[in-house]
Amino acid sequence: PRPIVIAPSILSADFASLGAEVRAIEDAGADWVHYDVMDGHFVPNLTIGPGVAAAIRPHVKTKIDTHLMISPADPYLDEFAEAGCDTITIHAEAGPHLHRSLQHIRKLGKRAGVAINPGTPPDVVDYVLNLVDLILVMTVNPGFGGQAFIPETVAKIEAIRAKVGHRDIDIEVDGGITPETAPLVVAAGANALVAGSFVFQGGPSAYAANIAAIRRAA
Ligand code: DX5
Ligand code: ZN
Repeated sequence: PRPIVIAPSILSADFASLGAEVRAIEDAGADWVHYDVMDGHFVPNLTIGPGVAAAIRPHVKTKIDTHLMISPADPYLDEFAEAGCDTITIHAEAGPHLHRSLQHIRKLGKRAGVAINPGTPPDVVDYVLNLVDLILVMTVNPGFGGQAFIPETVAKIEAIRAKVGHRDIDIEVDGGITPETAPLVVAAGANALVAGSFVFQGGPSAYAANIAAIRRAA
């Protein structure tokens, strides 16, 4: 089985101290930094763009796992690559040319990811399996941290796991991940766990214990 990856979402970090926050989660044992980009159009919230990714890049060695909740995504892919993002994940629902966008991310030399919302069936990945390094199964509707895990997504993780088989593809989950939900998604086949509100609760002195609690439960 693939190693379990814990990716704290900096959506729940202190945005006034992002450099210190990403250093703190790296020191606390985070495997990746999950970077949530929202456009107020594809999702009902606005966050950060490639400039902030470039600003945090020198603060950590950890891979930046970029989750683009934006439509269209294509005009911004080059900028996120130049900012030093390692994985660039786009939503299957965000545009008509998923295949072309994934090809473009690969051409930029980055790991390519496809994300699917809770209401989207798993077969949208069927014809892009050779173009992706990561499939993100959303376990909440994207837009906000701190929402409740949607249990119906567990069967979809199993369906994605069956499609992926032995291919070199991470299966990631995002939304409502805690020590209670982590074992469910890992048993279903996920190996990369994004967690925002759970990891960042209690401030920097609690990050290591929070990350360890999810890892132990997984
Ligand atoms: C949701 C974002 C998530 C979010 C997860 O739209 O994509 O990454 O920060 O937050 P929690 O772990 O609090 O559900
Ligand atoms: Zn996310």
